[in-house]
Amino acid sequence: MIQFEHVVKRYGKNTILHDLNFTIPDGQFVVLIGPSGCGKTTSLKMINRLIEPDEGRILIDGEDYAGKNPVNLRRHIGYVIQQIGLFPNMTVAQNISVVPRLLGQDKAACDKKVHELLEMVDLPYEQYAHKYPNELSGGQQQRIGVLRALAASPPIVLMDEPFGALDPMTREVLQDEVKRLQRKLHKTIVFVTHDMGEALKMADIIIFMNGGQIEQMAPPEKMLEAPASDLVRSFLGKHQLSDSNPLYVEDFMRTNPYTVDFHRGVLECAEKMARSGVDTLLVTDDDDHYLGTVSIRDIKLKGREAGSIEPLISTEVRTVCLGDDAQESVNYLLTSGESYVVVLRPDQTVAGIITKNSMAKVVANTLWGDDK
Ligand SMILES: Nc1ncnc2c1ncn2[C@@H]1O[C@H](COP(=O)(O)OP(=O)(O)OP(=O)(O)O)[C@@H](O)[C@H]1O
Ligand SMILES: [Mg+2]
Repeated sequence: MIQFEHVVKRYGKNTILHDLNFTIPDGQFVVLIGPSGCGKTTSLKMINRLIEPDEGRILIDGEDYAGKNPVNLRRHIGYVIQQIGLFPNMTVAQNISVVPRLLGQDKAACDKKVHELLEMVDLPYEQYAHKYPNELSGGQQQRIGVLRALAASPPIVLMDEPFGALDPMTREVLQDEVKRLQRKLHKTIVFVTHDMGEALKMADIIIFMNGGQIEQMAPPEKMLEAPASDLVRSFLGKHQLSDSNPLYVEDFMRTNPYTVDFHRGVLECAEKMARSGVDTLLVTDDDDHYLGTVSIRDIKLKGREAGSIEPLISTEVRTVCLGDDAQESVNYLLTSGESYVVVLRPDQTVAGIITKNSMAKVVANTLWGDDK
């Protein structure tokens, strides 16, 4: 168990941590998150006494190490620092087995451990064990840093943005691996990240810090359900539950659909469809009010006699109004086989259309963000 009791840290006149109080029970995965400079790294370094508090106490399993030699404490706390921190003059294998060796494990046992761990992150022993850190990519170095922290099987592991420099695939693999190990070995992990997605995925408890204080401490579910402030809400961003902010038709709609004035002739209409790659157009009157749709199929069937599109206007396509709940339209499009729904403004002019494509885009953005 890790307990912070009224912990204060100052640098000169600046108070970095203000009266910090929290308890981390054994076997929990705790994520520290918050804006840059809010005191995450400082808090983490206090757990293994790389930084001493100015006031208050930090207890590990009920024991206050203040004033005692921290070396023994540190051997039982794995640590992955923000800037990798491998020993440059040691090979990968030597780096990973530093702490196990210090704890008195023999060479064969260490070697076995190195084998096992490298296998775990897809870096084959034969190829990587004898390389030096400067022969590895940044992401590979970071993976070794994680392995080194786990190698001695310490009960507590501190991780300061350990996956920051990894590509999304490797990151996912390591997140899963660390989470699996933590559950299996019942480790207490204190993990710092900027990434709310990572926090929600990994954490049993999230501690959201701001300006050296705790803004909110809660399990992911609770934080999503009831963010304590606008700042927490902005970090949660796209991860927020959809039922806490209902979706409206405008959230799914594509604007600027192809429209045509009802005076136009069928040939002109057909030509516009061909040019735009669509098989229907929305028809409007002189004041831009929506009248219905005209389809290439109807133009082909009876267009030539009609001359103008007016007699071909169909009102079969479903219309909804801005501000309507999106769910009904989404269900309708998924089950009816129709290809779109027209969204109208209160004055009956056209605001946009919802298509299966525009729906899919919203879903993709929600899942993966809208950055390309
Ligand atoms: N040795 C130091 N001397 C003076 N100020 C420091 C020192 N170390 C940290 N600080 C300040 O303390 C505050 C908290 O720093 P800390 O490294 O804990 O932030 P952080 O939350 O980990 O930020 P980041 O997300 O950018 O890593 C910052 O304002 C920082 O400038
Ligand atoms: Mg930091």
